[in-house]
Amino acid sequence: MASLLDQLSAMTVVVADTGELDAIRTFEPRDATTNPSLILAAAQKPAYQALIDEALKSSREHIGSGAPVEDVVNEALDEICVIFGKEILRIVPGRVSTEVDARLSFDTEATIEKARKLIRLYEELGVTKDRVLIKIASTWEGIKAAETLEKEGINCNLTLLFGFCQAVACAEAGVTLISPFVGRILDWFKAETGRDSYPGPEDPGVISVTKIFNYFKKFGYKTEVMGASFRNIEEIIELAGCDLLTISPKLLEQLRNTKEPLLRKLNKENPSLAEEEIHVDKNKFDSMMALDRMASEKLDEGIRGFSKAIETLELQLAHRLAVLEGGAAFSHAVQEIFLLNDLDGDGCITREEWLGSDAVFDALDHDHDGRLLQDDVCSGLGAALSLSTV
Ligand code: G3P
Repeated sequence: MASLLDQLSAMTVVVADTGELDAIRTFEPRDATTNPSLILAAAQKPAYQALIDEALKSSREHIGSGAPVEDVVNEALDEICVIFGKEILRIVPGRVSTEVDARLSFDTEATIEKARKLIRLYEELGVTKDRVLIKIASTWEGIKAAETLEKEGINCNLTLLFGFCQAVACAEAGVTLISPFVGRILDWFKAETGRDSYPGPEDPGVISVTKIFNYFKKFGYKTEVMGASFRNIEEIIELAGCDLLTISPKLLEQLRNTKEPLLRKLNKENPSLAEEEIHVDKNKFDSMMALDRMASEKLDEGIRGFSKAIETLELQLAHRLAVLEGGAAFSHAVQEIFLLNDLDGDGCITREEWLGSDAVFDALDHDHDGRLLQDDVCSGLGAALSLSTV
């Protein structure tokens, strides 16, 4: 019998929810999604250090040698997201989702500007915009930003979506795709009720995505529905037939290792729904969100969590930039020392040539042979540099 993953792939577009390239290679999904927490997690792996360094160096070049560290780091954040995205697109045949800085979630204009910039960075790397989904939190301001971007041909993925009104507002704004969360809704209900589990069909996250999917299909909205944030494979099984599902490598592995029949649960040709169509303007959105404590709390918490991930990444980048630029300044300093002191240009500085004090010469002349080679100076200055960066 075929695995659950193979059967699911025949009825739903399977997407990898990760920033890790090896995991994406393993499961050969059509698309992939990232978010700030996933990029932060990937950035911790030594394998991606070269990508991070590339982004920091190119950001420094872009914004100039005199620019403050915060500006370089800010620029590098965008470049890192795009560089990861481009690497992902070398593996997947479809699209990658790249998230706008979550701290802009309540600022429509800033979100639009950031999205345009991400698309421009992609285009500079030769990636066309049809292969990118700009991920934006489903606040009212984010949805309005997406409405404008979609009109410019920039495709959006509206994330951190917990409430029905968020979904309807996205569909009415004409966004390409939404990511209604499943697991985080389950987390909220478990914490709220004290229950430690819900069977798949009763899982409140599953019920939420099922309702949104059927509503979109029944009323003919084109917005694609991509269930996201899963806690177990039962949730995924219950959503078989959804347009897309974005799944972590751990759960993709479980689906691949499980062999049991998979039934289609969602059918776009035959949506089952009793709901009437509603229209969501800002007042309706605000009042529906105010009545939906789960959606409001999870949206706020999600934005805070992604913002925190970005801030942590910024700190790490600032530290790495100091190391990289300390290193460049360091080799420049060594060259300067040789230019000043190696008067005959033979690659070594004798005590007679040395313009500094005897004490410093002795400290650098480890082997006491009365000459300083580049290695002697490098290791002497290197010890001082590593002490200053501890
Ligand atoms: O795609 C959304 C997903 O990355 C969030 O998952 O596990 O953090 O709720 P999770």
